[in-house]
Amino acid sequence: MIQSDFESKYTHIYEFVKSKLQSAPGCHDFDHTLRVLRNAEKLAAEIPEADLQIIRIAALLHDIARPEEMSAKGKFCHAREGAASCASELKKYDFPQAMIEKICDCIRSHRFRGDGPTPQSIEAEIVYDADKLDSIGAVGIGRAFHFAGRENARVHNTGEEALNSEAYSREDSAYREYLVKLRHVPDKMLTVAGKRHAAARAKFMHDFFEQIESEIKD
Ligand SMILES: [Fe+2]
Ligand SMILES: [Fe+2]
Repeated sequence: MIQSDFESKYTHIYEFVKSKLQSAPGCHDFDHTLRVLRNAEKLAAEIPEADLQIIRIAALLHDIARPEEMSAKGKFCHAREGAASCASELKKYDFPQAMIEKICDCIRSHRFRGDGPTPQSIEAEIVYDADKLDSIGAVGIGRAFHFAGRENARVHNTGEEALNSEAYSREDSAYREYLVKLRHVPDKMLTVAGKRHAAARAKFMHDFFEQIESEIKD
């Protein structure tokens, strides 16, 4: 089968991102990128006005500058840096300039936390929601325990211990991550479809931590 021009460029970018992120730390490796891509495609299927080509390229590239941010110990923002590097990288593929700008806007705003660039298009909202979805639900639980394990934190602690502790301490458990950040993620979703998926995943997380609590107390 002859690939369309877009599919050929997409495959090239896919391989470029894979080679860069496949050995990144587990919470932000190429597997994370592929899950975000899948989430974004699912959301886009429910939002017909969204441009799927922009979404697919932006989802693939959204964390491309993560390794640099980690080696610089967070001294710069991977979203801004990624958008800047992709602006020149994407010119090589001869995409229309308007498309490149929209892709870079998605990358720049995917980390929106109230103080950075706000997602301005439906495509940027979808990439943002797709990334947030990967931090909650069963995958979110797995990622939270993975991170806590890397930091040598406890498997579980009480809500009081978790909430009265510092990040990167022994008390920085998966439960702390849930209480401090992850339980609030559904309130931050931007699309209607994203909110619905987030609500289902949030319920699963809530029930999971209730189960841990009941096993310890019974
Ligand atoms: Fe990111
Ligand atoms: Fe991400």
